[in-house]
Amino acid sequence: KKIAVFASGSGSNFQAIINEIERGELSAHIALLVCDRSEAKAIERAKTHGIDTFVFNPKAYASKEEFEQEIIDELQKRDVEFIVLAGYMRLVGTTLLSAYEGKIVNIHPSLLPSFPGKDAIGQALLAGVKVTGVTIHYVDQGMDTGQIIAQEAVTIEENETRETLTTKIQQVEHRLYYKTLIELLSI
Ligand code: GRF
Repeated sequence: KKIAVFASGSGSNFQAIINEIERGELSAHIALLVCDRSEAKAIERAKTHGIDTFVFNPKAYASKEEFEQEIIDELQKRDVEFIVLAGYMRLVGTTLLSAYEGKIVNIHPSLLPSFPGKDAIGQALLAGVKVTGVTIHYVDQGMDTGQIIAQEAVTIEENETRETLTTKIQQVEHRLYYKTLIELLSI
C-alpha cells in the first residue's frame, strides 16, 4: 500500500518505519513525507532514503483548509491510501479528515486517555504514575481522542528520569508502530 508519513520533528518513528520496510518486515511504500517545519530532521531522513517530501509553512496560508487541500492534492497525485502521523504536532482538520476518513493513524507516548496533548512523558512523571506507555489510535477531530488500536505499557521505576523514560517509550514506539501497521495495511 502507498502511505504518507506526517512528521514535524526528529522523525525517529518515521525512521523506524523506513527501516522495517527496507528489512522487508512491513510491506508498504512511503510515497511522501509531509512536514510543517523546514528545519525538521525528518526531512533529511526522507532525502537519505529517496522519499519525496512536501514541506510547507502553515503561516504562509490563510487557513488550515487551504494547506490541507494542498496536502490532499500532493497525496492524490501519488495515490496515497493511508496516512501515518509520526510526531506531527498539529490537529488534523475536517478537510483532510473527510478526504481520508478512517485512514489516518497516530502514535502517542502515553496510555490514552491519560495524558493527551503535548509532553505526555512529562505529564506522566509529574503525576507520579507507576505505569505509562504508548498508544496507537485512529485520528478524529479531537486531541488524541480517536479510537484506540493498540497499547503497550511501560513501567516507571523509582529512579526514572525524563531521559530514561523517553528512551524506554521510544523503543516501544518503534516496535509497536510497524507491528500495528502490518495489521492495518493488510486490511
Ligand atoms: C513520539 O513520541 C510520538 O509518540 C509523538 O511524537 C513523538 C515523535 O517523535 N506523537 P519522533 O519525531 O518520531 O522521534
